Amino acid sequence: KEWTRAERYKKITDHPEEYFVALAEKVDASAFRQHYHIQPHTGLLNDPNGFIHFDGKWHLFYQWFPMGPVHGLKHWYHVTSTDLVHWQDEGIGLLPDTAYDSHGAYSGSGFVKDGQLHIMYTGNVRSKEWERTPNQIVARMQADGSFEKFLPPAIQGIPEGYTDHFRDPKVWKVEDTYYAILGAQRTDETGTAVVYESADALSWKLKGELDIQLPDFGYMWECPDLFEIDGQMVLLFSPQGLEPEGDHYQNIFQTGYVIGKDFQLDSLDLENDGFHELDAGFDFYATQTAESPDGRRILTAWMGLPEMAYPTDREGWAHCLTLPRELGIRNGRLIQRPVRELEELRTSKSIAEEGTLKGKIAFEREGRNSYEMKLTLDLSEQAPVTVNLCEDDDQENRFSITIDPTTKKITIDRSACGIPFGEEYGTARSLRLEEMDQVSLHIFVDTSSIEIFVNDGEGTFTSRIFPNEGEKNISLESPEKTTFNLEIWELG
Ligand code: FRU
Repeated sequence: KEWTRAERYKKITDHPEEYFVALAEKVDASAFRQHYHIQPHTGLLNDPNGFIHFDGKWHLFYQWFPMGPVHGLKHWYHVTSTDLVHWQDEGIGLLPDTAYDSHGAYSGSGFVKDGQLHIMYTGNVRSKEWERTPNQIVARMQADGSFEKFLPPAIQGIPEGYTDHFRDPKVWKVEDTYYAILGAQRTDETGTAVVYESADALSWKLKGELDIQLPDFGYMWECPDLFEIDGQMVLLFSPQGLEPEGDHYQNIFQTGYVIGKDFQLDSLDLENDGFHELDAGFDFYATQTAESPDGRRILTAWMGLPEMAYPTDREGWAHCLTLPRELGIRNGRLIQRPVRELEELRTSKSIAEEGTLKGKIAFEREGRNSYEMKLTLDLSEQAPVTVNLCEDDDQENRFSITIDPTTKKITIDRSACGIPFGEEYGTARSLRLEEMDQVSLHIFVDTSSIEIFVNDGEGTFTSRIFPNEGEKNISLESPEKTTFNLEIWELG
């Protein structure tokens, strides 16, 4: 179905109750609903927003179009958790219900001021002629969970030198000063990030552009996030418009980072050794991080991409968030590990196998695709190993992971896995490692996603998959003797 503009921007309150009942029925009948990922009840989810630990619990919101699996009038949906594992529904977090956000409550972030939870987000406004005006709005959470918006917006319209692509404020505080970093497009159609400062988080002054020495790097940067890990400054952002380069930049849009040396907030100078993609999988975008009470930097992302069709579109819903991950820096690169709290999801250990592989070993699985797997391979014999997941009994369909010590590459391939989609961007992705004598894979499989953590976070592959019924077995293959250790936990 093609959605008209009028349908995409029709208010949630202008839809009869029956509309949502029928839509929810359709969604509930989907075979691809996730078991332990955050996903929308109906409609489309995109960026994580307002991620923060406040007053004893985690608050997480996401961009949400309730009415169907398309991008339209965006709301924020709200979930909370005490452990990053079990999430409680809090209903709609933010409605696009004023003249300053009439065409969408776009992405933004959470922060604490005077002991109260605040957010700053982009109010998207369209004129009759469909000209866009972005506004940056600050709001404060009330006792009942709704937000009081401070209007007129803290930053109204577009400053000189930029286009209407000006959005996604991420706020942080240093001593008594609040800062916000926003994604922007210069009038020459190059992407950048700008920084604002404020003493009260209400009236903001443009400080300037963050300089990461990439003056012509894509046409727009979305969802910038600037934070410190181990005394080093990291800028994480989602640039649009990068061309594929070897194994890199294969998705329609990218997410990556630079790590700064001796960052000076005053000069906005972030000297760094270049841009690195954060994830090597098919579906990863628009990250957001938050700090945990014990000082960990936790990341979550949209497990999807803009301007792409997904198989669940016909079921009335689209997308989910990634598992929460802990960020770190190792050898000058960002690493991502699943947060330790996720061990709470384990219900039983279904496989524990140590041995030598030559040829193929298959493990038939009962039940649903909802498990965690740890595999360690000793590759000193230099033989390639393929791990097949979601394999059918005839061993014809699978999601494969090939670890090849001769090229030092790990390649994932979803060309024979379930319902094909996104094929115009290719069906394989590769990541090159420096060293490959031993490789460990830590994998989380849910009904319609695979998240692979390589070598304790050195690399990750994050992807959606839509396996057909019966595609659930696991097998390992290698032409030469390879020692392995495999553990599987069923997840609740
Ligand atoms: C990224 C993005 C943001 C914007 C939001 C709108 O996916 O385009 O830049 O705020 O989605 O939903």
